[in-house]
Amino acid sequence: MFLRMRPAMVTVVFAGSVAVLCRVSRHALAPQARSADPPTWVPVCEREECHEVRQAALPMCDTSGVCGESPSVATPRTVFSALVGKPQGAWSRQLERNKASGRSFRASSTPPLVLLGDSIFESLLGTSLGVPVERAAGVPVALEAYARGGYDPLPLAISGDQTQHLLWRMPLELPRWLLGAENATFLVLIGTNNLGAGFLPGPTAAGVLAVARWLLNNSKGVVAVLPLLPRGDGPMRLPRLCPPRCGPDGKPFTSFMPAVRKVNAALANADLPDLNVLRDCGAPFLNTTRNKNKGGEVNRDLMPDSLHPNAKGHTLIADCVLSSPPFGDQYRHRRRRRHHHR
Ligand SMILES: *[C@@H]1O[C@H](CO)[C@@H](O)[C@H](O)[C@H]1NC(C)=O
Ligand SMILES: *[C@@H]1O[C@H](CO)[C@@H](O)[C@H](O)[C@H]1NC(C)=O
Ligand SMILES: *[C@@H]1O[C@H](CO)[C@@H](O)[C@H](O)[C@H]1NC(C)=O
Repeated sequence: MFLRMRPAMVTVVFAGSVAVLCRVSRHALAPQARSADPPTWVPVCEREECHEVRQAALPMCDTSGVCGESPSVATPRTVFSALVGKPQGAWSRQLERNKASGRSFRASSTPPLVLLGDSIFESLLGTSLGVPVERAAGVPVALEAYARGGYDPLPLAISGDQTQHLLWRMPLELPRWLLGAENATFLVLIGTNNLGAGFLPGPTAAGVLAVARWLLNNSKGVVAVLPLLPRGDGPMRLPRLCPPRCGPDGKPFTSFMPAVRKVNAALANADLPDLNVLRDCGAPFLNTTRNKNKGGEVNRDLMPDSLHPNAKGHTLIADCVLSSPPFGDQYRHRRRRRHHHR
C-alpha cells in the first residue's frame, strides 16, 4: 500500500485524502529512548480538523503508565514529544526564533507582558512551529487587545509544548534585563498538551506550578497563570491513550474536561502566595447545548478545531485576562510581588 522513499518519507493516498507517513529515527531525537522497538510508520493527518492524530514517534506513557518525560523536569522535545511530520528540527528553529525575539525585545512606553505557552499562544503570531497556519489566521489582532490594555506583549510559545519543554526554554529565551524588570508580567498558559500526551492531572498541574515557581525564583516581575481552556477533541484523541488512561470500564475516556477541571482545581489551590492564578476564562468555550455523545463539547464558533481558539476566542481571552487581577488599573496596587513588602 505504501512506497518507501528517502529521506524517510512517503505519501499515501487513502480514499481521496492525502496522509504523509514519516519515519523518525529515535537516535536522531533521543539517545536515551526507553525501548528498543524499531521506529514505526505513523500517519500524520494534514487536514485541520484531524490535527489530533499527529503524534510523537513513541507514546509519552507506555501501557503500564511509565512516561518518557516528567512534566516538572526541564527537557527539550524528545522522541516522546517531537511530532512525527514536524520533527524536533522545527521545534529547535522556533526556539531560535523565540530567543531572537527575546534578544530584540526592548523596553517601551508600556510594561512588558510575556506570554509563555504552547500552540494557543503561538497562534498570537499566526503560526504553528513558525509556519503560518489557517487556524491562526487573524489571531494576531488579539495582541492589539493586550496593547490597548496597557501592555507591550511578547509571545514566547511553541506549538505542542508541554510544561517540561517550557521549563527548558525559559532560561534560554528570557533576556536577563526582562527577568530583572519589576514592571514585567509573565502570563503562562501551558499544560493541555501534557493531558493530550497522557499525563495525569496531578503531574500536569505540578508541571504548570514548576513553571510558575521557576519564574518566581528567577524573575522580579508579576507571575500569572491562566487556567487551562476547555478542549473537545477527546473522542478523537483519548482512544489512543488507553491503555494506560482508561475509564473504570477499561474503555477510553470520552472527554478531557474532567482532567482539565482537576488541573484547574489544583492550580486554584496552589500554595504559592506570590502566584496570581487568574480566574477561569474558559466558560465561553464550552458548548452548553452539547449532546454528550455527539461531540460539540466545545463552542466551535470560538474553537473550530475543538482545541485552538480562533481570533474571536483569543480576543475574549485577552479581555478576560485584562479584567482579572492583577491586570487592569483597578488592580495596580495588587501587582507588586510580596517580597517587595518584606
Ligand atoms: C520597565 O522596567 C524596565 C527595566 O527596569 C525599564 O527600562 C522600563 O523603562 C520600564 N518600562 C516602563 C513602561 O515603565
Ligand atoms: C525555586 O526555589 C525553591 C526554593 O529555593 C526550590 O526549592 C525550587 O526547586 C526552585 N524551583 C525552581 C523551578 O527553580
Ligand atoms: C453544540 O453542540 C450541539 C450538539 O452536539 C451541536 O449541534 C452544535 O453545533 C454545537 N454548537 C457549537 C457552536 O459548537
